[in-house]
Amino acid sequence: MGVIVKDLKFSYGEKEILKNINLNIKKGKMTGILGPNGCGKSTFLKNILGYLKSDSGEVIINDKNFKGIEKKELAKIVSLVPQKSNLMTTLSVSDFVLMGRLPHLKSSWDGYSYEDVKIAEENLEFLGLSKFKERVALSLSGGEFQRVLLARALTQNPRVLLLDEPTSALDLNHAVELLNRVRNLVLEREITSVAVLHDLNLASMFCDELIMMKDGEVLYQGKPEEILTEEILHEVYNLKAKVIKDEKGKPYIIPLV
Ligand SMILES: Nc1ncnc2c1ncn2[C@@H]1O[C@H](COP(=O)(O)OP(=O)(O)OP(=O)(O)O)[C@@H](O)[C@H]1O
Ligand SMILES: [Mg+2]
Repeated sequence: MGVIVKDLKFSYGEKEILKNINLNIKKGKMTGILGPNGCGKSTFLKNILGYLKSDSGEVIINDKNFKGIEKKELAKIVSLVPQKSNLMTTLSVSDFVLMGRLPHLKSSWDGYSYEDVKIAEENLEFLGLSKFKERVALSLSGGEFQRVLLARALTQNPRVLLLDEPTSALDLNHAVELLNRVRNLVLEREITSVAVLHDLNLASMFCDELIMMKDGEVLYQGKPEEILTEEILHEVYNLKAKVIKDEKGKPYIIPLV
């Protein structure tokens, strides 16, 4: 159970971006996706989300093949915290987070129920965002808004939570706090979580498994200590680095100039 990806290929026009991806992403675990800029990480998440339609291959979520399924149906199960949001709205933070309930409304004529409002409020509270409830979402700082995007994704009540660089705008304290909360939630609710991360040390700290991508391919999948080695970092990022281990054997990276 979790997400199984079989022979997935995706191109933008003539340009082949994802080349035959095969993966088994486990349920109730945090999986990190690593790889250089432009290697296809965001494109891969958008394919799982069904936002982009693959050229070929299959995505099986909790034993079910979602090929040809309506985006709204898929959105009841999979949610994404996007890398960038083209937000051009004057919605309040509460209303923006409530949008996470849209896939669950019985028909577009139905308003939100009391239950929907309650779920949105619980997630705002869970992420320490209640104080921003009445603010116009556009007026938040980059880091505040990034946490609001997570609140909206959680309000969707997903079985699969995709996060695209969820800590890129956060200070270290908020980054650690957010990943810790997501990790606890993933364990508690048995969610399958896939996070694209550029900070290799945070990936090592919080992820159970790592996937290393390069040029549209998955080169490696394994535990942080199997993936974050000096050889692999050199091969994938052309980076010279020293890898040290903490008392539990978790690797940490010191780049060498
Ligand atoms: N709409 C598009 N049309 C054409 N090419 C695109 C489009 N979107 C992305 N690409 C290209 O596809 C490739 C993969 O992009 P993607 O956003 O998946 O990379 P990424 O691994 O997420 O990179 P980053 O770490 O910089 O976010 C890049 O070369 C990018 O320029
Ligand atoms: Mg990206």
